[in-house]
Amino acid sequence: YPLRQLNTFGIDARAAAYLQVTNENMLAEARRDPALAAMPRLVLGGGSNLLFTRDFDGLVLHMATSGIDIVGEDEASVFVRAAAGENWHRFVLHTVARGLPGLENLSLIPGSVGAAPIQNIGAYGAELKDCFHALRAFDFDSGKILELGRAACRFGYRDSIFKHELARRAVILDVTFALPKQWQPNLRYAELAQELAARGKTAPGAADISDAVVAIRSRKLPDPASIGNAGSFFKNPVVSRETCDALLARFPGMVSYAQPDGSCKLAAGWLIDQCGWKGRSIGPAGVYEKQALVLVNRGGASGRDIAELARAVQADVMQRFGVMLEPEPVFV
Ligand code: EPU
Repeated sequence: YPLRQLNTFGIDARAAAYLQVTNENMLAEARRDPALAAMPRLVLGGGSNLLFTRDFDGLVLHMATSGIDIVGEDEASVFVRAAAGENWHRFVLHTVARGLPGLENLSLIPGSVGAAPIQNIGAYGAELKDCFHALRAFDFDSGKILELGRAACRFGYRDSIFKHELARRAVILDVTFALPKQWQPNLRYAELAQELAARGKTAPGAADISDAVVAIRSRKLPDPASIGNAGSFFKNPVVSRETCDALLARFPGMVSYAQPDGSCKLAAGWLIDQCGWKGRSIGPAGVYEKQALVLVNRGGASGRDIAELARAVQADVMQRFGVMLEPEPVFV
């Protein structure tokens, strides 16, 4: 089964078997089917955070469920539930349009609702976990439905339990968000505050913030519909305060952010840019001209081409700064 249309990198890989999941029962049925149950599984949402380095000799489960509902409220929040197959950005726009703010800083992130908790998507000073309430997942091991609250998901920076203990086991069915009734704009990210100021929005609403985020992202990040990519290819590396200070002594212009726990996050895009990689390519695999943290498929790249470029970038950043960059997308 061809997968090129199902991954935003546009890699031409194939799967041995494919199932489009339009209702939850199809997962239990697949589990009971001996032929399907014996196969390795890959759950696919928007296909925006993975890199196929070869064909997948197993079953691709493509989540295509739909539905967005307000499911309750308490004093502080309105609870909104969305099915895994819903497009993330459409869901954000839907909540903002209905006067339910909270997710606006996460506008225009590619992918699906069901994939969003896996890497705890984040941008412009917000993370999914800030508004997360609970999710339901189908457990392929037991055949049961799991319900996980925020603590159980063990969210971290681009990380959750779904990248560890529950990887390959749980299939997220739907996600419930707690959207605040007492909303405050989150303008911690300087570039966002500047964009709103430039637009004359002194008291921005959620829709203004969403519009501003869409504008910033559109300027800096390639649209997967025209240039294959998976957003940031590397995580921003976290180093100790001492390592950060030692690097700052040698590279005073280095971009770093102090973390609440005393450690320090470095801007991987800056490190890669300094190594001269911005806009460069190896064959059809390239480093995006406007954001060095994004690797792109300039046309016909294989997953191996992208992985080879990633290794070359990692090696240069390691040599120059002594810092190891960790890829963000899942390699298949
Ligand atoms: N920078 C450079 N050169 C570059 C790119 C960046 O010098 O080529 C510098 C910038 O000038 C800036 C700093 O690096 O001072 C940070 O850049 P930017 O604000 O563009 O954000 P980022 O750290 O590169 C992260 C997320 C993005 C998210 C933005 C905005 C990660 C891995 N990436 O990027 O998330 O949209 O912040 O919050 O944390 C994604 O995960 O796919 C993604 C796009």
